[in-house]
Amino acid sequence: MRTQVGIIGAGPAGLLLAYMLRRAGIDSVILEKRSRSYILGRVRAGVMEQATRDLLIELGLGDRLCRDGLLHKGFEIRFANERRRIDLSELTGGKVITVYGQQEVVKDLLAALEQENYPLHFEIDDVHLEGIDEGAPCIRGRGAEGPIEISCDFIAGCDGFYGVSRASIPDGVLSVLSREYPFAWLSILAEAPSASHELIYAHHQRGGAIYSMRNKRLSRHNLQCDPDGAAKSWPADKIWDELEVRLNADNSERLPRGPILDRVITRMRSFVVEPMQYGSLFLAGDAAHIVPPTGAKGMNLAVADIKCLAAGFIEHYRAGRRDKLNAYSTICLARIWRVQRFSWWMTSMFHRFPDQDTFTAHMQIAELDHATGSQAAAASLAENYVGLPHSC
Ligand code: FAD
Ligand code: DHB
Repeated sequence: MRTQVGIIGAGPAGLLLAYMLRRAGIDSVILEKRSRSYILGRVRAGVMEQATRDLLIELGLGDRLCRDGLLHKGFEIRFANERRRIDLSELTGGKVITVYGQQEVVKDLLAALEQENYPLHFEIDDVHLEGIDEGAPCIRGRGAEGPIEISCDFIAGCDGFYGVSRASIPDGVLSVLSREYPFAWLSILAEAPSASHELIYAHHQRGGAIYSMRNKRLSRHNLQCDPDGAAKSWPADKIWDELEVRLNADNSERLPRGPILDRVITRMRSFVVEPMQYGSLFLAGDAAHIVPPTGAKGMNLAVADIKCLAAGFIEHYRAGRRDKLNAYSTICLARIWRVQRFSWWMTSMFHRFPDQDTFTAHMQIAELDHATGSQAAAASLAENYVGLPHSC
C-alpha cells in the first residue's frame, strides 16, 4: 500500500491528523494496535482548552461538542479551610474551558473519518518502521488478514508514550528530559450526579483531590494515591469517604454516590524528547511528551502539536516548501515547555510529597494563597488553565 503520510496510533493525535490531512486532500493511513471498541471505551482526559474547542469547531467537528460539552467559566480551589474561585472568563477576557471527555473527541473524529471510508486499520501487531533516515520510509505490521506494508513520504508517530515510533529513532539522537513524581492518581468515573457545577481542585494534608464531571449523570474524580498501590485496594466507600475528607465537604455537601464504572491508577511524570523529528518521522502528542495530569493538558498538547504538523504537511504538498515541517519541533517545543512548567507547578502545589516537611507544607499553602488571592497571580493561573494560544 502506498500513501503520503503513514500514521501510527488512533488516539486524539493520530485521528485529528488524519482528519486534517483528509480535509486538505492529503492521503494518509492509520495503523492502530488496539481494537476499535477499545479505543472508543478508553476513559481519559476531560478538560478542553479554549483553543482546542475553537479548532474542533472550525474543522466542523463541533456538533456534539457544542451540544453536550459543559462550558465552565471558572473553577474552585480549596485549601486550609479556604474556598476560592478562579473566574477564568473574567481573568482571561472571556475564555472558558469545556468539559468534554477525550473519549467523545475520539468518537467524533472516528465517526467523521469512517463516514468517508478512511483507511484505518485496527489490531495491527508488531508495527515497525523502516527507512526513516533514508527518505523512503515504510511501516510494516501484521493484522488479522496477514502482513501489512505501507510505503509513504512521511511517518507521523502518534502512538503514545509506550509506542514504537520514538523507540525507532537511533540511540543518541534524542535528548530525554523527565521527572517522575512519587505519587499517582486514582481516577474514577462514576454513575453519580455532580455535587458541584464547576471543577474543584483540593489541597489536603492527606493528598490532592480533583472533583470533576462528564455530564448530569456521570462524575469523574481523582485522588492522589500511592503509585505502587492497586486500584482494587480502594473499595468504593473508601474512595467516596476520602473524596469528602479531602474536599473538606461539609454536611450539606455529601457527595452523591453511585456505581463506579471505571477506575485506574496512573503514575505521574513529566517527560519531553528533543527534537520531535528524525528524518521523515515526526513525533506528536504523548509519543513526544507527557505531562502530569494536574493541569489537564495532555490531550490539549496533542491537539496543538497536530495543528502545527498538519500545517507543515499541507505547506509541503501545496507549496513544495518544508519551512513549517523544518520548524515543527522547535515551534512545538517552545509551547510544550511552557505547558510543562504549568503542569509541574500545579502538581507541586496540590500534592503531598512523601516525607514532606513543615516548611514545604507552608510553602504550598502560601503558593495557593498567592495564586488565588492576588489578581495578577490568578490571572496567570487562568491564562494557563484556559490554554496558551496555539503557536501555528
Ligand atoms: P494516545 O491517546 O495514547 O494514543 C496513542 C495510540 O497509539 C493509542 O490508540 C495506542 O493504542 C496506539 N499505539 C500504541 N502503540 C502502538 C503501536 N506499537 N502500533 C500501533 N498503535 C499503537 N490527560 C489529562 O489532561 N487529564 C487526564 O485526566 C488524563 N488522564 C489520563 C489517564 C490515562 C490512563 C492516560 C494513559 C492518559 C491520561 N491523560 C490525561 C493524558 C491524555 O489522555 C493523553 O495526553 C492523550 O491521550 C494523548 O493523545 P495521543 O493521541 O498523543 O496518545
Ligand atoms: C479532569 C482531568 C484532569 O487532568 C484535570 O486536571 C481535571 C479534570 C477530568 O478528566 O475531568
